Parts: sequence; C-alpha cells; structure tokens
Amino acid sequence: MKFDTPATTNPIDQLKIIGKSTDRIDGPHKTSGLATYAYEHHDVAPSPVYGFVIGAAIAKGRITSMDTSKALAAPGVLAIVTAANAGKLGKGRFNTAKLLGGPEIEHYHQAIAVVVAETFEQARAAASLVKVDYARAQGRFDLAQAKPGATRPKDSADAVVGDFATAFAAAPVQLDETYVTPDQSHAMMEPHASIAIWNGDKLTLWTSNQMIAWSVGDVAQTLGIPKANVRLVSPFIGGGFGGKLFVRADAILAALGARAARRPVKLALTRPLIFNNTTHRPATIQRIRLGATKEGKLTAIGHGTWSGDLEGGGPEDAVQQTRLLYAGANRLMTTRLAVLDLPEGNAMRAPGEAPGLMALEVAMDELAEKLGIDPVALRILNDTQVDPEKPERPFSQRQLIQCLRTGADRFGWAKRRAPAQTRDGRWLVGVGVAAAFRNNLTMTSAARVRLDKDGVVTVETDMTDIGTGSYTIIAQTAAEMMGVPLSQVSVKLGDSSFPVSSGSGGQWGGNSSTAGVYAACVKLREAVAQKLGFDPSLAKFADSQVSAGGRSLPLAQAAGKAGLTAEDKMEYGDLAKTHQQSTFGAHFVEVGVDAATGEIRVRRMLAVCAAGRILNPKSARSQVIGAMTMGVGGALMEELVVDKRLGFFVNHDLAGYEVPVHADIPHQEVIFLDETDPMSSPMKAKGVGELGICGVAAAVANAVHNATGVRVRHYPVTLDKLLDRLPRVA
Ligand code: MOS
Repeated sequence: MKFDTPATTNPIDQLKIIGKSTDRIDGPHKTSGLATYAYEHHDVAPSPVYGFVIGAAIAKGRITSMDTSKALAAPGVLAIVTAANAGKLGKGRFNTAKLLGGPEIEHYHQAIAVVVAETFEQARAAASLVKVDYARAQGRFDLAQAKPGATRPKDSADAVVGDFATAFAAAPVQLDETYVTPDQSHAMMEPHASIAIWNGDKLTLWTSNQMIAWSVGDVAQTLGIPKANVRLVSPFIGGGFGGKLFVRADAILAALGARAARRPVKLALTRPLIFNNTTHRPATIQRIRLGATKEGKLTAIGHGTWSGDLEGGGPEDAVQQTRLLYAGANRLMTTRLAVLDLPEGNAMRAPGEAPGLMALEVAMDELAEKLGIDPVALRILNDTQVDPEKPERPFSQRQLIQCLRTGADRFGWAKRRAPAQTRDGRWLVGVGVAAAFRNNLTMTSAARVRLDKDGVVTVETDMTDIGTGSYTIIAQTAAEMMGVPLSQVSVKLGDSSFPVSSGSGGQWGGNSSTAGVYAACVKLREAVAQKLGFDPSLAKFADSQVSAGGRSLPLAQAAGKAGLTAEDKMEYGDLAKTHQQSTFGAHFVEVGVDAATGEIRVRRMLAVCAAGRILNPKSARSQVIGAMTMGVGGALMEELVVDKRLGFFVNHDLAGYEVPVHADIPHQEVIFLDETDPMSSPMKAKGVGELGICGVAAAVANAVHNATGVRVRHYPVTLDKLLDRLPRVA
C-alpha cells in the first residue's frame, strides 16, 4: 500500500483500542523473567560455549606481535579467532571501523581477538594469557585541536538563506556564543550480546538489535556469505538508544567463534568494553549567532557545528533543528567534521537535535535576557508555520506555540523572577524553559497477519521493541483494524524470517511499524470479506463479527481450518517533501542550587508534546519521562572523559559514566496535546521517543542560570563550573 495522499477517515479513527492507555502486553513476560534477552535463549543453546573479546590496548597503530600459545593451552579453550586466522572479512555498510581489527588498530578497545572456551571464566582467564605487542602511532583525540582542520562532509551542504553576515552585523541586538557538548554513551541496561549457531553454512544469531534487516545485510557483508544464509532473532531488547542500530563486535565475533569452535557460542561485551568498543554520541562545539530587532524578531540566525569521527565516519548534525525551528530571513547553518581517532561516533537518541538544542535553546534564553523579553514570549514571537528555507512548504502540523502556552500555564511560569532572586532555605531556586523539536521520519514497513479458526489474529513483522512498547501498539493496531479484543491478538517481533519492518530508530518505529500492520490488516479485511461474501468496501469489523447489509457472521468463520493470511507493506510517497513533518514540545524545569556547594537538584519537570496521534498514552508517557530523565543526565552528569594523550574514554563503566538514578529525578509530568497528523500515515501518529529528550538539557541549564545568575555553556553543568561564580551568601 502506498501512502501518497493525506489520510482520511479509516478504521483506526474508531479509537476503541488505539489511543487508550494500555498496559504492555509483554509486561508479564518481562516482570516474570520469561522475556528472553539476547543472553537468555537457553532453549536454543542448552550447552553453549563462551566467547570473550579482547580489545586493543592502544588507540592507533598496529599489532607487532600476538602470541596466543599460552591461551590456547589453557583449560577449556576451544579456539581463538584473530584477524590473522579469521579469513577474509568485509565491513558492514553501517560500520566505520572493522569489528575485528588487526594488525592495524583504528581505535581503543577495537576487538582484536575472541577466545572461545567451555565456560565464561575459562575464556576470560585465557584471554589474559594472550600476549600482544603494539607499535603506537600518533593519533588525533582532541576536537578543539582538530577543529581548524575540519571539513564540510560531502552529504552536508551549507544551508544559506538571504545574507546572514550583513543582517547579523546590522542587527541592533546580537548574540554570539559558543557551546560545548561532550561525548556521551548510550549506557543501555542490556549489554551488546549474541548467541551464534551455525547449521552447515547457515548462521542464526540471537542478538540484541534495533534494525534487523540492516543488520542481516551487515553480518552477511562482513562474513562474506549470502544474506539468505543469515537469520537474526531479537525479540526483546534491554535498551538501545541508537547503540544497537548496527551490528557490533558481539555478533560478528560470536559467529566467527562458533565457526572455529564448531559449537554454539554465547558472547556478551563486558561493560568496561562497551564504551570504547561500540559507538557513542560525538562531542560538539557549536557557535550560535543570533541577530534580532529591539522587539525580539530574529533577523539573522547562524549556527555552525563541529564534531569529529574516525576517517570515513559522519558528523553529529547539530544544526538540523535550527534550520526549521524559528523564523528569520537571513540564515547560515554549517556542519563541519574533523577526523579523530577516538571510537566510532554514531546515532544516539535524537542524533543532531538533542545536542543541537542543548546549544540553541540556551542561546535563545540568553537572547531573551539581552532583549528583556520573557523566554516563552520570545519563542512565540519567532514561530513559523512554514519551512523557513522554503516558505512554500508548510509544516504538516506545528503546535509549538500551544505547547509553550499550555506548559507555561500548567507550570506556573508567570511566577518566574529575575535571576538569583528566589531562595528556599539553602537553595537558590530557578526555572527554565526550552522548545523541543524533532523531525518525524517515515520508513517503509511490512507485516504479515493471520486469522485462525479461533478468531485469533497473529501479527509477524521484524519490528523490534527496545523497551518502547512496540508489541502493544502493534497489537492495538491489529485489534482495532480487525474488530477483535486485544486478548485475541498475538504479536511476534524481531525475527528476520518475518516481513521487513521499519525497525526501531529515529523515533520512526511507532508510526511506521503500525502503519505496516495497518496495510496488512486492510488486505486481511478484504480477504475475510470476500470469503464471507461481503462487499469489502462495506464490511464492518467489530466485536469479532463481520457485518454488512444487515447480515453478520463471526470473523473466525472466514478463517476456516487453514486460516487466512495477508501480507503487505506501507510505502511513502511525496507528502514528506510537500510538507515538513516534525514533532514539537516545550520543557519546563525547576531546579534548586545549593547556595554554598553549587550542588544542583532538579525539583520538578513538565513536558508538553504535540506529536500527532498518541497511540498508547501510557507507553508514550513512559517514553517521554525516560527521555526527560536522559535529558537530565545530559544536562548535569553525562560525559565520556577523553584521555587526549592515549585516546580513549576513561570512564568506561557505569560507576564512572554517571546517569541519573531515581533519587535524582523528582516529579515529572507529561501532557500530550490533542493532535492527529493526516500527512504522517493512516495512523496519523508521529514519534515521541526522541522528542522527549530534545531541549531538556537546555531547560535545565536555563533553570540553573535563573537560580544563580551563572551561565554555563559547557555541558555537563556541574558544580565546579558554578562554584566560584555563585552569588555571595549573606
Ligand atoms: Mo535512534 S539514535 O535512531 O535509535
């Protein structure tokens, strides 16, 4: 089915099941431990052997010698695979560095060997006996130092509208500031893990992966085998945040280890390896220049961003939101990329927008202060209903103003006072606001639906559930479409033997995967109607019955003994070209800053989101509060600390890489504006999972400024950056 004209009324609009707060159908599985994560498929491999990965001890250079003899002789060891004996390996489309390095080393903790042994402990012990010598080469590890040599990435044209330089120079009110965001790690709960089993030349990987079809391709390409010989299974995922969009070393080395040992191999990357071995969100340096009239109208918007990556890698595109968020006739957005020899940078929750808004939305706060205008009012004043670069192109829906107004009202924004004016005992109290913006992407997505003789509808698609609630919204979609209760729907996900879905990424999964299920259900409805002798265009599906023209028959009757199956996909036409599809929100945060120590505590948070139809308010809210929590981490804690001499992330575990815990997070409230977007899909839904993090860190930083009068432009905002500038305590 092709979606190329705006959605009209369809069965989803009945909203009997869609749009209702619904408990996760996989909840009991997860809370009882029955949900099988990658390391837990005990049934498929009752007596596996274990792989232990050795990571490179240098960031750049080469292995001059590797002696595995002692390790091979160690108890229980079955095989050691290195680049020297792995055979010819390719590289996946989505991998910048090789997943099995050597002799050249591209980054610290790049995998250089996997030791396979009967037990995990034996594999780990033997790994410590592998002797590796290196010749270290000069690496580039400092973004600030590499910045002057950064170049324009080939896929990233500068966005130029009007004459920025002249307009900025002439603007009566100007802001020109530079903001720094650090490298960040996904730090998901479940480590990257895989079980590999070969059956002849066919490989099955039980793994933890967001994008099944991409990853089948990358495994095949890396191992040099046909895609048809690779099966990936990933039914439950303990968090991904973009870190599992791509195949990583666990999958490839489990496969190589299993081939060498001729046994099923189980392999998890250890936590201290994950931070440097896998991907991370790259650090940025961002210069923002805003020119405005005295009344606060933006006349010039300039945003330049610099980030680094390995040779052949990509940029952190932190100007995306600035291209679309505010009106302003003269615009200049540039993205520059430096080569760094740090681990591979890649997508992490709202890549681009999340760090971009950390800068832009502080700059807007600073501009508001210069203008003497309320920060909410300044954003409203500069709203646009069209793409500022192409005024003939409207937004499909844009309720940023409504988000800001609703939030201001609910949060009590009117009580906000000038910086450093509010005390509550030892706490300096302040509030901050930021706009949230994240684009809405749509991806082709297919599904298969089957109706059986008992009236049960089974959905199969390779869509993944990374903790987001995919199982539930897919079940809701099928139930709504087929007119059956939720309990009559069974959902099977995350297996490459199922039709190819959108996968989970870029907050496109919710809308896109359910739209694919919608398409398959439309086909199944037609098949059912035909079988029962109804006109498919008139048949109504409700209460497990099909009816038309005063006649009504049980849905199950159509299935017969053999059942009825339909498969289809949703593809997208040009609506995303004619209309800009984005999601909007507003974040409001109150913080307290200890007047003596500078300790920052978030006191309350509110997010107001306008993101199309909310398919399941309960799981959508969970998405947004999770994203708000991650935003607090970005504001106050998260930073991969770079050893600029040796070229690695120093704090590579969950003790040193700090993320918020329950005690850090106070009251959080989420409001969804009533919205449907007929341009997005027949579901009229959009993404929320990444919108929720966008702008949060800036709202926190702005609240810290309002509390203390201190402006910090270098994330994370930690007390050492405040301490010598705090207002004097009387
Ligand atoms: Mo998202 S960073 O595309 O999982």
